[in-house]
Amino acid sequence: NSESTLSITVVGASGDLAKKKIFPALFALYYEDCLPKNFVVFGYARTKMTDEELRNMISRTLTCRIDKRENCEDKMDQFLKRCFYHSGQYNSEEHFVELNKKMKEKEAGNLSNRLFYLSVPPNIFVDVVRCASLRASSENGWTRVIVEKPFGRDSESSGELTRCLKQYLTEDQIFRIDHYLGKELVENLSVLRFSNLVFEPLWSRNYIRNVQLIFSEDFGTEGRGGYFDNYGIIRDIMQNHLLQILALFAMETPVSLDAEDIRNEKVKVLRSMRPLQLEDVVVGQYKGHSKGGKSYPAYTDDPTVPKDSLTATFAAAALFINNARWDGVPFLMKAGKALHTKRAEIRVQFRHVPGNLYRRNFGTDLDKATNELVLRVQPDEAIYLKINNKVPGLGMRLDRSDLNLLYRARYPREIPDAYERLLLDAIEGERRLFIRSDELDAAWQLFTPLLNELEEKKIVPELYPYGSRGPVGAHYLAANHNVRWGDLSGEDS
Ligand code: BG6
Repeated sequence: NSESTLSITVVGASGDLAKKKIFPALFALYYEDCLPKNFVVFGYARTKMTDEELRNMISRTLTCRIDKRENCEDKMDQFLKRCFYHSGQYNSEEHFVELNKKMKEKEAGNLSNRLFYLSVPPNIFVDVVRCASLRASSENGWTRVIVEKPFGRDSESSGELTRCLKQYLTEDQIFRIDHYLGKELVENLSVLRFSNLVFEPLWSRNYIRNVQLIFSEDFGTEGRGGYFDNYGIIRDIMQNHLLQILALFAMETPVSLDAEDIRNEKVKVLRSMRPLQLEDVVVGQYKGHSKGGKSYPAYTDDPTVPKDSLTATFAAAALFINNARWDGVPFLMKAGKALHTKRAEIRVQFRHVPGNLYRRNFGTDLDKATNELVLRVQPDEAIYLKINNKVPGLGMRLDRSDLNLLYRARYPREIPDAYERLLLDAIEGERRLFIRSDELDAAWQLFTPLLNELEEKKIVPELYPYGSRGPVGAHYLAANHNVRWGDLSGEDS
């Protein structure tokens, strides 16, 4: 509607996330003509800054897509002209009254829709929501609030946060982001499953031996120790990003693609899972390491991390879904910082071919002959299926080959950042990729007993060298469930 204005307020505008992700994503949406004709962007933070200073700060972070450089500079200027700054305290209703006044000036009496992006630490979420909803809500259009994790540290604190937010907002107004849901391959998971005949019939304990959800980063928590030490890898990656992927992977077919239908199925599958126990998990922490004349720090070398911290920077876990489809199938998760590679992937290992006619060709290790479907979420997005194939020639030699869909070869255009999709969805009121409160509760219920036990028993993480493959305990955990991590043929692990 050309007579309406969209005001987007980034609260915490001078923070890292705002600079790295939110402003660049807003610009990309503008460049792609995805934002409404009338829109304004407000930065809100405590730092004193002029509009010009905000624009300078943002302009340093904006980039043009490789394939769309045309007019990019002009577009940037036009975008920056729509950006304004307001400095204020996060808990001051008065300062939000001032913000509201500025917004009204820009909205010029039009119908206004307002989106607040809370890019601030969790201890001030509720203050901001109170001030924004009481003093800067739209009077004639919608008001929505995007919040970033952490949504609490356990079931109780998360429930408390939800209760507090709901004093000021309805569930419909709250958009809880899990940016992994905005990643191209994660979105594609449902397309792959539900629009191809060849996958869905295999999607069960009858054919799938195990599923692996792997997240690894080749850098540590340097610079983020203060936040990280209070949360650890299980809360930072597993309880949200990997569990969300698992839910999408394992859910039953939803009634439709509507947000509520999909989220209902995700909640169902989460509630069918058994809460994790200590023996299902291995935790690790990286230690310093020197390689090739370079030395890499230990987690506890970070000055913001206590020297005796037991916080896990690595964890592996075995999860089970107690329903008819997945009974007995291990879902293994592995997440770690400061490992040898940066990668996020979903690996599906299929069962053996019963009475395989070609078993002699595989030697003693029949595991190597099973099919494996891999969705490489990042980097270098790809979907590939490992199959057995005859090596051309007169003999009968088999080898492992890939049916390979490499995104950069098939779809050479740049893939939008997850934040672009999620911001656009929030603007359009599409809730499919956001976490509903019952989903969040179900996710915490799976992890809270374990997290409490780890803390109460002061479980000491297994140390692993910075840049390594992580603690060996992860291999024992997998072996307990007859699983081997990564590629069975050893080619791409
Ligand atoms: C964030 C975590 O949610 O995701 C970070 O807090 C992590 O610790 C990041 O580095 C990874 O996101 P991406 O999109 O870079 O894989």
